[in-house]
Amino acid sequence: MPNDRLLHSTPPATDTHPSAFANPDVGTASWFVVGRSDEVPAGTVQTTTVGPRRLAVYRTDGGDLCALDARCPHLGADLGQGRVEGDQLQCPFHHWQFGPDGWCRHAPGHDETPERRTRSYPVQEKHGLVWAYLGGSPTFDVPGPPNDTQWWTLRPPQQTIECHPHLVIGNGLDTRHFTALHGMEMTGEPELSVEPPHRVQVTLQGRPESSWLRWLTGTRDRPLRASFTTIGGHLAWTAVEQPVRFYVLFTGRPTPEGHTRTQVVFFLPRTLGPDLIRAVGSMYVLLHDDRRILDGLDFTGSLTDQDRSLRAFETLVNDLPRL
Ligand code: FES
Ligand SMILES: [Fe+2]
Repeated sequence: MPNDRLLHSTPPATDTHPSAFANPDVGTASWFVVGRSDEVPAGTVQTTTVGPRRLAVYRTDGGDLCALDARCPHLGADLGQGRVEGDQLQCPFHHWQFGPDGWCRHAPGHDETPERRTRSYPVQEKHGLVWAYLGGSPTFDVPGPPNDTQWWTLRPPQQTIECHPHLVIGNGLDTRHFTALHGMEMTGEPELSVEPPHRVQVTLQGRPESSWLRWLTGTRDRPLRASFTTIGGHLAWTAVEQPVRFYVLFTGRPTPEGHTRTQVVFFLPRTLGPDLIRAVGSMYVLLHDDRRILDGLDFTGSLTDQDRSLRAFETLVNDLPRL
């Protein structure tokens, strides 16, 4: 006869997600990638989603970027289907026009402009991408590489991963999987550093168990050393210090289904030369097989004491301002 207590050892779904962490119903404040700079030329608009929210991202005729909640505060048309007029966005339905601050500035047929407003979001361009901040005023910035070198910036196409963004962004903090999944032999204890309210960092050192991967990554004589830092719940910064110095920015935007739309940015030294192959090899060692596992994750909130860094990440995420 089955043990009833065992069968019910996992609490029902409503109790497993009381917090913001990995909860598709609760958004947390962050910068989110809402497009590539070259996708929004002057005088154009496009619609993007961040979780259940729809944003109209437009560039004024003068070249300034703006991000507004896409729901028109009149009858709810999608402002992303509208058109840019000067520095204003015109709704496609009744042609009300909204300024960069979201206030209605003009409504055809009205003697007085209706006091209606759609939400506006802080927006910036960085690394060839358009970023919008959801969750009030920005309390941190999008990270970038040190400016001691000319960096070659690569932005591969976005991908969708079928689990919550917090699980994608926290992947590098999950030190134990580097041995189990990625076949890394650790050459030192991972170091954890927690900097509330936004940052959790682990630094680790190790080399592939496979001898050909050691050859490929240049780690036969010295280990690979890297740090993974989460900034809020939707950005992660990877700094590989050895055998080749380079950086990777991971971003995860929630889809309306609660999955993750990722945009990764690589920063490689322009002088990399033959070391490029080592950098690519190191990324392979650190990332291969993650996609398959992350796509299949069905998180139930069951972290253990061994998941120290992930727990620290969960705690910080739960304390972030909510959307
Ligand atoms: S729905 Fe936008 S102006 Fe009417
Ligand atoms: Fe991984």
